[in-house]
Amino acid sequence: MKQRKMLVTNALPYANGPIHLGHLVGYIQADIWVRFQRMRGHMVHYICGSDAHGTPIMIKAEQLGMSPEQLVSDMRQQHQQDFAAFHIAFDNFYTTHSPENKQLAERIYQALLQRGDIERKIILQAFDPVKNMFLPDRYVKGTCPKCDALDQYGDSCEVCGGTYSPTELKNPVSVLSGATPIEKESEHLFFKLSHYQDFLREWITQGHLQPEVANKLLEWFDAGLQDWDISRDAPYFGFPIPGEVDKYFYVWLDAPIGYLASFLNYCQQHPEIRFDDYWLEQSTTELYHFIGKDIVYFHCLFFPATLKGAGFKVPTGVYANGYLTVNGKKMSKSRGTFIRAQDYLQHLDPEFLRYYFAAKLNHRVDDLDLNLEDFVQRNNADLIGKVINIASRCAGFINKRFDNRLAPSLPSHPLLKSMSDASEEIAQLYEQRQYSHLIRLLMEFADKANQYIAEQQPWVLIKNPETEEQAYQVCSLGLNLFRLIILYLKPVLPNLAMKVEDFLNIAPLQWSDSQTYLLNHTIKTFMPLMQRIETEKITAMQDSTEHEGVRQVME
Ligand code: 2FM
Ligand code: ZN
Repeated sequence: MKQRKMLVTNALPYANGPIHLGHLVGYIQADIWVRFQRMRGHMVHYICGSDAHGTPIMIKAEQLGMSPEQLVSDMRQQHQQDFAAFHIAFDNFYTTHSPENKQLAERIYQALLQRGDIERKIILQAFDPVKNMFLPDRYVKGTCPKCDALDQYGDSCEVCGGTYSPTELKNPVSVLSGATPIEKESEHLFFKLSHYQDFLREWITQGHLQPEVANKLLEWFDAGLQDWDISRDAPYFGFPIPGEVDKYFYVWLDAPIGYLASFLNYCQQHPEIRFDDYWLEQSTTELYHFIGKDIVYFHCLFFPATLKGAGFKVPTGVYANGYLTVNGKKMSKSRGTFIRAQDYLQHLDPEFLRYYFAAKLNHRVDDLDLNLEDFVQRNNADLIGKVINIASRCAGFINKRFDNRLAPSLPSHPLLKSMSDASEEIAQLYEQRQYSHLIRLLMEFADKANQYIAEQQPWVLIKNPETEEQAYQVCSLGLNLFRLIILYLKPVLPNLAMKVEDFLNIAPLQWSDSQTYLLNHTIKTFMPLMQRIETEKITAMQDSTEHEGVRQVME
């Protein structure tokens, strides 16, 4: 098989708040994909970093009495720890507030400027006369001009769903100072997205995107591509725009450029990897972005257009995931379902979340529900009751009665061969991100393996010297079936796989090992691999979330 060279990214999390379980869907999805590709022998660089700029970070830092740089650096460290704890193994986790990103953002901007893609326009914007700054829509609140609901944001009403501009709000106030905003003119720079209409239409329909995403984008096309405002006035935490006074790049311009910057920073530490091989237009490597569905517009219109304009490569694939609900509803602090990565980690093994998400994820943009009761039941039944059970029923006999050594040959049984033969089918399901489908297949295999052991009853065979050899064969086959299931689950459960590799006394499993068996091989003593989830752990986790008011447990 030809070795592919791939660069894979996850959306860069905003450095203004903690990672929660909703974030983790997309990170776990991508990490599984990366681990799978590596097991296949491909070369993958997996990149992420902090999204550092913008008004919310500037304001939050001010409220905390620290510099935005310090806030970003603290958050970045926390995010890195959380990702590592969930076994999300980025090769580099950098930041958009970096010299590499500044240089790349300027380079891309200059290229667009030279092509005539940047236009100046005067806009009217809400201005806080006390704070002396322009206010983003979300920083103005007031009465909805459509339904008179009080205390609504400047861009949309949560009561009637109406959208409008902050200047239309009745009785507007600045969220920052409480002052009444005034309207003020300002010159902004706009990127002419419409210059890329033909290129984008072609790219969108070439199979780089999920069909439902492509269709949504085409609807926006029909409405006409609007120019994109890429500048913000001082004060702003971001990069100054070259050649302008008191103007900064809008955070969403330099955020995705952060993918290039993080990779550039990585290349600087690994001289054997060349930046140009992955980002120049003519390169033959593959580039994939995993993102949440709310940021499709940025990744599938603005970003590819700016890359194209500046002579960079456009993505091979952009894959969007849906939102996470908990117990069927939006995560909520009052229900104790706003679960931060840290709340989870204090009580539960991260691999249970990886498994649960994998068991529910597919290639579409569907939302995913974490039902806490089902989470307990599913993990206990599948991982402990089915998968690990195979080993715990067989290993003891090999350890105690057969001197830790697997049999030199195995009984001919169709299950082993059919599991080996399924390797390409399972690989295709991973490749296409159809994880729920492949998990179903693997659990069917696990059921059959358990059924085989239950029928053979090695614990009975072992008692009789005449059938002892048969028990040996059954247990050796059982552990081979177990090894294959673990091999196929390894992208999802890397830590469990590592423990099993140690127990089986084997080198790290690669995909091609699915075509071999373990014969006449010495293993180590079996130790419990995972503990069942006790329901109390869920209650304790919910108790440690930041919750408000009364809460119902496991509703
Ligand atoms: O939506 C978000 O959380 C953004 N911080 C994602 C940025 S992805 C990329 F463009 F940097
Ligand atoms: Zn309204």
